[in-house]
Parts: sequence; C-alpha cells; structure tokens
Amino acid sequence: MNIVLNINSLIAKKVASKIKAKYSKIETKIFPDGETYAKIPLKVKGKKVAVFADFMKNPNEIMAKVLLTCGALKQQKAKKIVLVAPYLPYMRQDKEFKKGEAVSVKIFAQIISGQIDALITVDPHLHRVKKLSQVYKCETHVLSAVPVIAKYIQKKIGKSLIVGPDIESKQWVSKTAKKIKMPFIIAKKKRITGRKVEMRISKNFKTDLKQAIVVDDIISTGHTMIKIVKLLKKKKIKRIYCIGVHGLLVEKALSKLRKAGAKVLTTNSIQNPTSKIDISQIIAQKLESV
Ligand code: R5P
Repeated sequence: MNIVLNINSLIAKKVASKIKAKYSKIETKIFPDGETYAKIPLKVKGKKVAVFADFMKNPNEIMAKVLLTCGALKQQKAKKIVLVAPYLPYMRQDKEFKKGEAVSVKIFAQIISGQIDALITVDPHLHRVKKLSQVYKCETHVLSAVPVIAKYIQKKIGKSLIVGPDIESKQWVSKTAKKIKMPFIIAKKKRITGRKVEMRISKNFKTDLKQAIVVDDIISTGHTMIKIVKLLKKKKIKRIYCIGVHGLLVEKALSKLRKAGAKVLTTNSIQNPTSKIDISQIIAQKLESV
C-alpha cells in the first residue's frame, strides 16, 4: 500500500507508520447549503491508496465523505482504492422486518462497492447475510478481533466465564473461549424495540466462577449488555466485564453500564474511553497483502 488517507479514523496514522505508507488527512468541509466537499491532498495516479473511515457519530455524513473521496481517487486514476472501515455500518437492517422497510445492508453495499476496489473491515455484523461477498461487488476482507480480545483477556483479566448475550454473539464468544480454554454460555435475547430487549439464561445454569466477561460485536445503547449484567448478578457473579468489538456507546450507554456495575472494554475500531484493545496490527498486516 503506497498511501493512507484518513477521513476521521484515529488508528489510520498508526497503521500508516506500521506499513511505512505516506499519510495524509483528507480535506473536507461542508458547504453552506449542507453539501460535502472533499479534496485529495497527494498525487495518487498509479498508487495503491487506503482510505480510513470511522463510521461513528454521523454515519450518513461520513458516507458522503467516503463516496466523494473514493470517487475522486477514481477520477485521479489511483491504481487500487481500498476502504478500511474497521466498523462497518448499515449491517443490522439485513431484512425487511416490517413490510416496506429498506434492506439497508444491500443498498449501502451497492453504493459503496461502486466507488472502491476492496473493503477491509473487522467483525462485521453478519447474521442473515452470511458473507460480505453476497452484497458487496468489490473484493472484501473480513478480519476478526477475536485473537486480540482473547489475548487481552488472558493477559489482563484471567479465568472467567465467557458469556454471549444472544445467539448472534456465539460466533465471537465460542471462538474467544476456545482460544483461552475458558467455559462459555449463551443467553437467549428477544429484541422488542431498538431500546428494549428481553433476555434469559438457562434456569439450570450454575458456575463457581465469580468473574464473567460478556463478549458481543456491538455495544450501541447498552441495553443488551445491561440486561445480561443484571442476570449474571442474580447468579452471584461479582465482577463483570463487557467487551464489545465496536463501542458505539450511544445514549449514555457507558455511564449506564458502569452504573449497572460493569467494566466496559472495546477495541479501537471506534475511538472512545473504553477502547483499550488495539486492532491496528491486524489491519496493517492485511493492508500489506492487498
Ligand atoms: C445485535 O444483535 C448486536 O449483536 C448487538 O447485540 C446490539 O447491536 C447491541 O445493541 P444495544 O447495545 O443497543 O442493545
């Protein structure tokens, strides 16, 4: 990779220095009428360029910046355009849950695929869509934070019960637990609304462990984590960690979770006070081979 261009990611610079690529921020601004402006600050003709974007805070505005940046790279004849979106948005609306709803995962993928040659992301929310290649027309590379999360648990937390708050989390929970040889359980969750979930764990479940680590791909409003924390407390588990690959942490999720008695940790796919688990090395490694 020759060049790393950064829209708003806090790990882009770190990755660029790891792979010894030229680094620059994209020049963007918003016109008075609300339209987006973007300018490529380096010569990109014939170069392989990675564009980093953190789709958090304002994903729709970032989408406009990504489209204009990657479109400009195409116009300026970059050799390869690789979008690095450690957190890939618009993945959860993967079905017409109610008649008439947009299946956003497909539409977003179609729009983005048109402007890039390759996409690199970390643990995207693959549920009904099993593989990104089902919806993205460009080359796709899915990385997993599981090895770094497992290493972090082993080094900094120690023997614990690993817990998945719903069946979708089993893919991360089972692999994490297996890597560090710790037991795991998966709860059953029913989502009522975007801010309300019901959850249960098996009545027969018993453990001698006094420490648990809940692992999920996304912590958004925190309601999923809060529910499982309350259930684990009823099972006399004293110390509870909540680890999310992507800490969206909207609507004061962090303070609500802390109030519920949990210690919250996330990767730095999105930068926030909890992002203690570093994924820059796995991204750097992948960028060297695309
Ligand atoms: C959805 O199924 C995801 O895996 C997460 O469980 C969900 O996005 C968490 O959302 P919230 O924090 O708003 O409960």
